[in-house]
Amino acid sequence: MKKAKQTRKPAHHHAHMRHAARTDAPLYLVRRSKIHGNGVYAARDIPKGARIVEYLGERISHAQADARYEEKGQDDGHTFLFVVSSKVVIDAGVDGNDARFINHSCDPNCETVIEGGRVFIEAVRDIRKGEELGYEYGLTWESTDDPDELANYACRCGAARCRGSMLDPVPLDKKRKAKRKAAKKKAPPARKKARK
Ligand SMILES: C[S@@+](CC[C@H](N)C(=O)[O-])C[C@H]1O[C@@H](n2cnc3c(N)ncnc32)[C@H](O)[C@@H]1O
Ligand SMILES: [Zn+2]
Repeated sequence: MKKAKQTRKPAHHHAHMRHAARTDAPLYLVRRSKIHGNGVYAARDIPKGARIVEYLGERISHAQADARYEEKGQDDGHTFLFVVSSKVVIDAGVDGNDARFINHSCDPNCETVIEGGRVFIEAVRDIRKGEELGYEYGLTWESTDDPDELANYACRCGAARCRGSMLDPVPLDKKRKAKRKAAKKKAPPARKKARK
């Protein structure tokens, strides 16, 4: 009797602990990916909208990022850089966390959300345990870039609708042009403004 009671109690306690441990268990794990190098995988089911991990690393300027990686010569298409704004780039090659291992996907189950200058990776749909996490990189480029260099950014995500590239479909210079045009259209006539 005594013994049974003793074992039942810890057993109950254990079951409770296991439950607590499960909900606290990490959402993701890092392992080799078929897409490229390491990848990040759901360690349990993740509901749509869940904030999974923050993209951490050293915060530097675009000029610093260019100096760091362009001067290395030989662009192999590997990057740990995340563009936060026109001023800030996060270099996850320095003080980065596991978020830097999330590969690009053309049919992504995650998206990046920028909040107060910080970058978070969130689920855009329900993700099953074991699925590899991915988001749309939309890497910035210019139409004047060397095509041979751009070829380094070919995509191997394997999605049925793979775009074949991790690059943003529209180069930066074209975007800037479109933005200027839109601003011109939107701006009220100068005289109207001056009269105020
Ligand atoms: C932020 S890292 C992602 C982690 C990377 N797999 C690793 O092990 O370091 C970004 C780099 O991974 C590679 N990569 C990520 N997604 C890819 C994809 N869909 N197709 C081909 N290469 C990819 C590219 O070299 C890219 O520059
Ligand atoms: Zn793809």
